[in-house]
Amino acid sequence: MLNSALRSRAEYAELGADGLAARTTPERDAATIKAVEELLVGRETVLDLCCGYGRIALPLARSGKVVHALDISPNLIEAGQAKAAEEELSIEWAVGSMTDLPYKWDSFDAVICLWTAFHELFAEDEQISTICEISRVLKPGGMAIIEGPVWGPATAAEIANGMRQGPEHRIVTTEHFGTSSVHFIHDEISYGRLCAAAGIEDYKVYKREWGGRRRLILEIHQPGN
Ligand SMILES: C[S@@+](CC[C@H](N)C(=O)[O-])C[C@H]1O[C@@H](n2cnc3c(N)ncnc32)[C@H](O)[C@@H]1O
Repeated sequence: MLNSALRSRAEYAELGADGLAARTTPERDAATIKAVEELLVGRETVLDLCCGYGRIALPLARSGKVVHALDISPNLIEAGQAKAAEEELSIEWAVGSMTDLPYKWDSFDAVICLWTAFHELFAEDEQISTICEISRVLKPGGMAIIEGPVWGPATAAEIANGMRQGPEHRIVTTEHFGTSSVHFIHDEISYGRLCAAAGIEDYKVYKREWGGRRRLILEIHQPGN
């Protein structure tokens, strides 16, 4: 398993499903689910990549989508599975890394990777592998959505106090909920580089309101037949 995946797994083993759920609100989740459902109109088979405890996978299954859900953190998958079993929802769960997907080519109408999950990959080769994998498992005409925060260029103060580090100051450490989180910052330039490396031509990067927050989206469209 690659370094970023191991780090994330350890972080969520410590945080737990309840700890992660405490970082969102029912209002934000409801608004996010609405946004996702709007994007998925006409797309039935969905992979929730880095699904966590099923915050989005469960409501999508409730609404009749055919849902596969993968995450690196076994404890979060177990929480999702328990909830799905309670409600008798059919979801195909898998523990694995987004960098190396256990699905056949052309499996899904849509792939969603939400709430800054993609930004837990720090190395460019991990990021490119993931974009290639997403493209590989999308059906012709399929669509993928990667959602994360909007960050501007690093300020001198952020660099000086160590908040922004690494190449192009893309590694950001933030303090919230009493703990520090580390993420890789993406923007039009980094997403453009990744899509070029993965041979993806049909994509767009845009900002929009998402779950009550302004977020940056990478939307990938797989060429049709
Ligand atoms: C902030 S949570 C978001 C969960 C979910 N996408 C949501 O919207 O509720 C980030 C998730 O990414 C998962 N993750 C991080 N790195 C991963 C990797 N390499 N492969 C699969 N999942 C990963 C974590 O285990 C965690 O569940």
